[in-house]
Amino acid sequence: MAGGLVLTGCGQPAVQAPEAVPDKAASQSSTEKPMITPANWPLQQPPIARSQAIEDKIKALLAQMSPEQKVGQIIQADIASVTPKQVRDYYLGSVLNGGNSAPGRDNRAGAAAWLELADAFWQASTDTSDGRPYIPVMWGTDAVHGHSNVKGATIFPHNIGLGAMREPELMREIGRVTAVEMQVTGLDWTFAPTIAVVRDDRWGRTYESYGEDPQLVASYAPHILQGIQGVPGSADFLKGQHMLATVKHFLGDGGTIDGKDQGDNQHSEAELRDLHGAPYYTAIAAGARVVMASYNSWFGEKMHGYRPMLNDVLVERMGFDGFVVGDWNGHGQVKGCTPTDCANSLNGGLDMFMAPDSWEKLYQNTLAQVKDGRISAERLDEAVSRVLRIKAEMGLFEQVKPSERPLAGRYELLGSSEHRALARQAARKSLVLLKNNQQLLPLKAGSKVLVAGDAADHIGKQSGGWTLSWQGSGNKNTDFPNGESIYAGIKQAVEMGGGKVELSENGRFTDKPDVAVVVFGEEPYAEFVGDRSHLAFDDGRALQTLTELKALGIPTVSVFISGRPLWVNPELNQSDAFVAAFLPGSEGGAVADLLVRSPEGEIRHDFQGKLSFSWPAKATGELLNYGDQNYQPLFAYGYGLSYSDKTEVAKLSEESGISADQVLNFSRYLHAGKAVNPWQLQLLDKGEVTVVTEPLQKSADGAIEVAATDRLQQEDSVLLTFHKDAAVVLNHAQGVSLDLSRQANGDMTLELEYQVVAMTQAPDAAAKVRVGMNCGDNCKSSLDFTSYFSSMSGKGWQSLKIPLRCFSQANTTFDLTKISQPLVLEATAGFKLQLAKVRLAENEGQGQCGN
Ligand code: BGC
Ligand code: BGC
Repeated sequence: MAGGLVLTGCGQPAVQAPEAVPDKAASQSSTEKPMITPANWPLQQPPIARSQAIEDKIKALLAQMSPEQKVGQIIQADIASVTPKQVRDYYLGSVLNGGNSAPGRDNRAGAAAWLELADAFWQASTDTSDGRPYIPVMWGTDAVHGHSNVKGATIFPHNIGLGAMREPELMREIGRVTAVEMQVTGLDWTFAPTIAVVRDDRWGRTYESYGEDPQLVASYAPHILQGIQGVPGSADFLKGQHMLATVKHFLGDGGTIDGKDQGDNQHSEAELRDLHGAPYYTAIAAGARVVMASYNSWFGEKMHGYRPMLNDVLVERMGFDGFVVGDWNGHGQVKGCTPTDCANSLNGGLDMFMAPDSWEKLYQNTLAQVKDGRISAERLDEAVSRVLRIKAEMGLFEQVKPSERPLAGRYELLGSSEHRALARQAARKSLVLLKNNQQLLPLKAGSKVLVAGDAADHIGKQSGGWTLSWQGSGNKNTDFPNGESIYAGIKQAVEMGGGKVELSENGRFTDKPDVAVVVFGEEPYAEFVGDRSHLAFDDGRALQTLTELKALGIPTVSVFISGRPLWVNPELNQSDAFVAAFLPGSEGGAVADLLVRSPEGEIRHDFQGKLSFSWPAKATGELLNYGDQNYQPLFAYGYGLSYSDKTEVAKLSEESGISADQVLNFSRYLHAGKAVNPWQLQLLDKGEVTVVTEPLQKSADGAIEVAATDRLQQEDSVLLTFHKDAAVVLNHAQGVSLDLSRQANGDMTLELEYQVVAMTQAPDAAAKVRVGMNCGDNCKSSLDFTSYFSSMSGKGWQSLKIPLRCFSQANTTFDLTKISQPLVLEATAGFKLQLAKVRLAENEGQGQCGN
């Protein structure tokens, strides 16, 4: 078959033992800078032999392509920053939609809009009327838990839950279904799976990982890959129902110091190979054709320009024969580079730049570097060939336009009942039962059940980050036409057995229940926004609810939604049963499948999930991984009860082990009306500072009063009453400052959740409300929001989002790398504001800079 692929052997590539293994193997980390010795890495033969027909085609294309066309081929632009016409004018080889980019800049655009845009890009790229060679563009997306950017798609559990399932074979079906749903909208390529081995759970991307053990991740990689791509050597490899996948992020993303996103990995070479490298060997053997370079560095060497890894190890030792794509402007972090200028990255082994908004200048600079020899013709041709080779393997040269492909436009497949049943099965298998004292679970279907907690009826929260938007915040149940909340599932199961369900977010009920299920957990986040300095779960609202219910003698079941194991000992103590649900996705009904008996009293499904991350006994965030020498988890890797276990979990210590100075909360400053450790709420009155420590307090000269006030729960907001000019400030208790420049680049905003209770103008002066930030002494920026707040007076609870860039725009000397006070709210007499939350949140188009 012309253009077909040939397997060497029977699909199992030969792996040879490394020629030498460094003697001091698994030392935790050393400071002296080691070197990569490729011979230390096992030699694996490329699993897929090259096809002569494809090689001939590549050669013919290269002979026809101008330098302009070649440079365009290796650049990928974001659909928010490029038009179909520009794709044609600049010969771009690929486009992507970033987490917050969607057709028409609408994250909730319908599937038809995606397909229409896919056609537009494809048509622009294939118009050969000027004599250019025919090379279709390809569109990549982060379909990381289902086709998760598209409204109506099936949302699978995030990888952390899938790892707990311990059923790698089910990944084949999940991969296939994800590929099918992507093709309904005409897309070609997904930036998944993440095969990071996460060693520090403070990393904001922990949930994107199957687990902390390299063997577990290595066992999952081939199944998910072949689910998406098909099996190398078969006729539908990368075709038909299948498509192109990416393994990411190469290499060492899960092992950075302190779990810092985009940080530095200082594992020894042997650890880099054995911990982080292991899944790449199995993935490449299973047919991985794209590897995404990682933002992280290894002893200061950024992967995006590090030839010893991108070429000498990946290509020469691991047998990789596809192309290396960069991460979002990741090349810009290489020494001597910017997002628009980086020959070092291409010379270091990158084959395609992900240059979302920087593509145009990058194109010009790269072209100049090709012309003056800073990039050699050989290197350029090699990169272009690698991209063309994969396009040929995918059959893109023979493919019709996106909307005419067999699965395109079959919108009924998005969130179809078959796909949802698979997602529900996966969610069910991924839940881990941590505690079930006196065998409270499963519940009798005829019971009176109270369902409480802010995640109970919240499909957005149960789905987490990378859902419709980048951060996954701001999703409502109506954004999931094909989803079900955990509450809805429990209601259905209990009512079927003749029982009753009451939903109450704060746990206050009208009818005393037999049992309460409290669903709570982390707010959605993605990437660095989720980085933390400790592992304490620090939202006390569920604890309050659980404690109140226990005091009334009501048995409690906790369902905990989180992207990682967190220290929840106080919540565990107030729960008779406790389920770690991770981020189960759109099929909340899975929870009831396990928790509620059938009307006949049978157990409908037992728990199968086993922890794929060790659960910490302390909140300190100290490294805790299966196989450690001094391994003292609360619940070990592999722990998970089933209904036949009679294990009783005794009362746990509530000593978290962290003190305020170990805590650095980057993105949450005020939560449920209270300053989040280490932030403190201060009142500023005529230059005098009063730190708020009591439920009722006044500033030095009485200009401002604060009162802890109820919104939904006891004292879950703070009422600020201004009697004269004064300011309310959020200040770091230890005087540490924050670098928010990365957040500003990602267009994050400062969000206030508030209601204006009153705004009357004093007779002697005009009203004024300003929102600002401080960056140390005499460094600040403040924006006028007077008319904004006055228009919101009496309108109930609102969210105000101020893009961080507004503060820099208002004052060019403002320094986002040194934020000491993320909120300075100045107001005049008569302003009465009730405030619940102050935090960083993503901009989904609502951001505003003030009057
Ligand atoms: C992430 C990648 C993702 C890419 C495109 C990056 O910031 O690190 O995992 O694939 O953006 O959205
Ligand atoms: C994009 C994401 C990307 C991130 C990187 C966001 O604006 O939507 O896809 O991963 O920026 O900073």
